[in-house]
Amino acid sequence: MSSTLQEEILKLKEEKNAIILAHNYQPGEVQEIADFLGDSLELCIKASKIDDKDLVIFCGVDFMAETAYILNPDKKILIPDIAAECPMAHMLPEEELLKAKKEHSDAGVILYVNSIAESKQHADTLCTSANAVKVTESLPHDKILFGPDNNLANHVSQRVNKEIIPIPNGGHCYVHKLFHIEDVELKRKEYPNAEIICHPECDIEIQNACDKVLSTGGMLKYIAESDNEEFVIGTEIDMITRINKEIPNKKLYPLLEGAICETMKLHTLEKIRDCLVNESPQITLPANVTKKSKKTIEYMLNV
Ligand code: 13P
Ligand code: SF4
Repeated sequence: MSSTLQEEILKLKEEKNAIILAHNYQPGEVQEIADFLGDSLELCIKASKIDDKDLVIFCGVDFMAETAYILNPDKKILIPDIAAECPMAHMLPEEELLKAKKEHSDAGVILYVNSIAESKQHADTLCTSANAVKVTESLPHDKILFGPDNNLANHVSQRVNKEIIPIPNGGHCYVHKLFHIEDVELKRKEYPNAEIICHPECDIEIQNACDKVLSTGGMLKYIAESDNEEFVIGTEIDMITRINKEIPNKKLYPLLEGAICETMKLHTLEKIRDCLVNESPQITLPANVTKKSKKTIEYMLNV
């Protein structure tokens, strides 16, 4: 770490008793100044244990910062660029979820954390890509409404003995939709000794063609513990930055160079510095939504 901006941020962070939480898809220069890096579940767990900090700077997308707010409504949760939205999280509006619940009144409801808080409040529990199977097994229902990612729903459906109903029709992540089966075939030929790992947000035929399907945190752990030296990574490109930083002795190849989550990259060092100086933009939610969504997050954390 060397830039003066990074040094300025670290100084401000100390002065203001702030913590910087960042998702694994943040660019390298943001990863370098973060106090904690992780996948959605790890960030959620960390956000539930930040009592000693006055300010939280969340370098991730909207639903992640909202989760931190729901768990800490009395704290200032700041997001360097308020436009950092996850499009998938907005694919299941509250009305559509309520309609599906009415149609399937005997079903349990599991929402991916990548969903808006207004919908989260109507779920039985939330899940992340790291715990989706475990959380699904934990509910007593034989039938589950699962949204908004159809690919994660299919991933779970292949692994549990329950009826999984994906909602809404076509819910997806545009970044993970970029991977095609030809990319997997090409990388197999190019790197025959490499294990190919992808994220459960990829289409199910990509998941089935890969050697492992893991959350971003799961990828890091798996690669660190593996004797294999080469891996093809089928998720957002900066996951490779993160793994390289932790485990520099492995050879990593992207499944696709162009897999970039544009909104994750909105948090520049300048915006992080300004966010610390101005203590804005701030994330807030209505009290009733916060209260009801908190129960769904807590259920997941207990599982
Ligand atoms: P992870 O929880 O695996 O980090 O996934 C979050 C996400 O948005 C992936 O696109
Ligand atoms: Fe959302 Fe996809 Fe970006 Fe993850 S990679 S934050 S699911 S748009």
